[in-house]
Amino acid sequence: MITVSQAPMRRILVTSALPYANGPLHFGHILEAVQTDIWARALRMAGHECFYVCADDTHGTPIMLKAQAEGVTAEELIAGIAAEHRATYQDFLIDHSIFHSTHSDENRRCTEQLFQSLDTAGYISRRSIRQAYDASAQMFLPDRYVKGTCPRCQAIDQYGDSCEVCGATYSPSDLKDPISVISGTTPVERESEHLFFRLDAFEPMLREWTRSGAIHESVANKLEEWFSAGLRDWDISRDAPYFGFEIPGHPGKYFYVWLDAPVGYMAASLALAERKGLDFTRWWAADSDAELHHFIGKDILYFHTLFWPAVLQGAGFRRPTQVHAHGFLTVNGQKMSKSRGTFITGRRYLERLPPEPLRYYFAAKLGPGIDDMDLSLDDFVSRFNSDVVGKLVNIASRCSGFIARAGGRLARTLPDPSLYTEFAAVGPRIAALYESRDFIAAIREIAALADRANQYIDAQKPWNLAKDPARAADVVAVCTQGINLFRVLMTYLAPVLPAMAERAGHFLGHPVARWDDVTLPLLGTELAAYEPLAIRLDPKVVATLIEENPTAAPAPAQPAAATTSTAAVAPKPATPAPEANAAGKGEITIDDFSKLDLRIGKVLECGLVEGSDKLLRLQIDLGNGDIRQIFSGIRESYAPETMVGRNVVVIANLKPRKMRFGISQGMVLCASNDNPGVFLVSPDDGGTLGMTVS
Ligand code: MSP
Ligand code: ZN
Repeated sequence: MITVSQAPMRRILVTSALPYANGPLHFGHILEAVQTDIWARALRMAGHECFYVCADDTHGTPIMLKAQAEGVTAEELIAGIAAEHRATYQDFLIDHSIFHSTHSDENRRCTEQLFQSLDTAGYISRRSIRQAYDASAQMFLPDRYVKGTCPRCQAIDQYGDSCEVCGATYSPSDLKDPISVISGTTPVERESEHLFFRLDAFEPMLREWTRSGAIHESVANKLEEWFSAGLRDWDISRDAPYFGFEIPGHPGKYFYVWLDAPVGYMAASLALAERKGLDFTRWWAADSDAELHHFIGKDILYFHTLFWPAVLQGAGFRRPTQVHAHGFLTVNGQKMSKSRGTFITGRRYLERLPPEPLRYYFAAKLGPGIDDMDLSLDDFVSRFNSDVVGKLVNIASRCSGFIARAGGRLARTLPDPSLYTEFAAVGPRIAALYESRDFIAAIREIAALADRANQYIDAQKPWNLAKDPARAADVVAVCTQGINLFRVLMTYLAPVLPAMAERAGHFLGHPVARWDDVTLPLLGTELAAYEPLAIRLDPKVVATLIEENPTAAPAPAQPAAATTSTAAVAPKPATPAPEANAAGKGEITIDDFSKLDLRIGKVLECGLVEGSDKLLRLQIDLGNGDIRQIFSGIRESYAPETMVGRNVVVIANLKPRKMRFGISQGMVLCASNDNPGVFLVSPDDGGTLGMTVS
């Protein structure tokens, strides 16, 4: 049998980036939390101690102004958002050890301590800067709160830091005709003393840390660019009014939100340690033997790979073991956008669907690099329905029935122990893939195993054996094998599908908890009654994730009606009739084409039609349980037996047609010309059942 490696227990502290407390969690946040949660659960399944901490990022100008606009205090605003964030994470089965807040006593203590240490060590400098000031609102303006005309390309209405039209970057004082976004008045320039963190002092340390395995190679290049551009001092103070922590010894000056935000990781772990009696310094001391892992999006790398390690080191603490950056999520191929209705919040999803299908889909898409990843709703439905419901759950549901009818107890031996051993032997590789964040590969390996388990059952055909009373023991044996293969697969997927794994553990009478639980099969034990472990996603429900009439985009204004005599000119003639093409059909628009619901289907059955020498009767599986009867005029070119198992392209939304022989529910695409015969149109390799053809 397999030997279990006795690796020593590691102490791990892991974090996700702290979401801003000024709005709901959206799919980008959920993606990150799911990635971190899967990773943390996978390491716990290996027997390591792994605490996952997170918090709301509560400080800064936008939150202060939002509270003012809503007529509440900043504290009230962030309290409401914290409750909402907590509930949403929980409903996505995110297993935080603690979800804290940067507006907390722990964070104030940690931030002040770090600052004092940096100051004492000489890493804080002071100098006056000139900055845009709104005299009517009586506040300094962050760059994004000044708008005006781009000094380079003269585009109007550009932010104070960069031009969205020509890409120029500049400072607000370079803008022409600047105005304050807050009051609409013209800002003035004002001097103020700011505190700076001397980042350049840490360049050698950061270069060394970068090469220590702390970041993925895809990120290391980015850092090289920053090093060669030169590391500049970092402005860490802001003037009142500001929602944040006042800097001790500097009345009217506040810590910049990006200084106290990463300290929020530390503060959350401090609160956790104080609540649970854990050793805080063990995680953070310079000579810590614990690991510190940060999961972030690629947009906040600068803060986590330069500022944060430098701040920690400068203040006498340990540096992160690894910073794991991921790419951005797009929806149906485009950046999430409110005006397109694709800015999907976690809540909107949860109001319609259970959490695990999304966790599964994100896992199936998440690799170790910083490539962006796309959520395609069709792909989401077919991945979950085919991989999880069709393959995984199917094994348990098929086998459990036979075992229940035979008394509910598993056999005492496996009919194919070597197949089981093969499954169990993949465990360490799966665990390693999770740890290296190659979830794509982990899911691929598990799906391949699920195929093999189904092949085993299909080959043994317990439903046939069950017809022969003399073979009752064989039925139980085959299904015991099936249930044990299922148990291995469920264990491998437990970090991704924790609630399902828990239900499966209940059914198996044995919790699904650690990788090495599957070293030995379950034999001779009793199974609990089988309850369905997952249900199919309904594509119609999934489609409603995207808002149909998003309100954010204003309709383009109609040009004003002409008032001069030209108004009397006859209306432009309608577009001339398009030239007919080779098939004698007129031009159509993309909208006409997109009315067709073209899908790849697989032919399940095919037979002759009595009374017709042209037609074949086909049963075609379009995926997601959608099986159609279609009559197709291909009898002259295709023998029925050559059709079964073939992938074809089907018009799925063709109005059903009543024929003499029955109803035809769609149409199979064929090509033909003057030559005799028709040719089925079929997808290229890789095109599989259920895909949309476009
Ligand atoms: N508050 C800061 C982080 C402070 S960490 C000390 C912040 N907040 S955020 O709410 O804007 O983003 C939180 C995380 O969500 C970041 O890691 C960010 O990269 C991630 N995402 C935000 N939108 C995203 C996508 N569309 N896709 C994937 N992740 C994205 O930044
Ligand atoms: Zn410009």
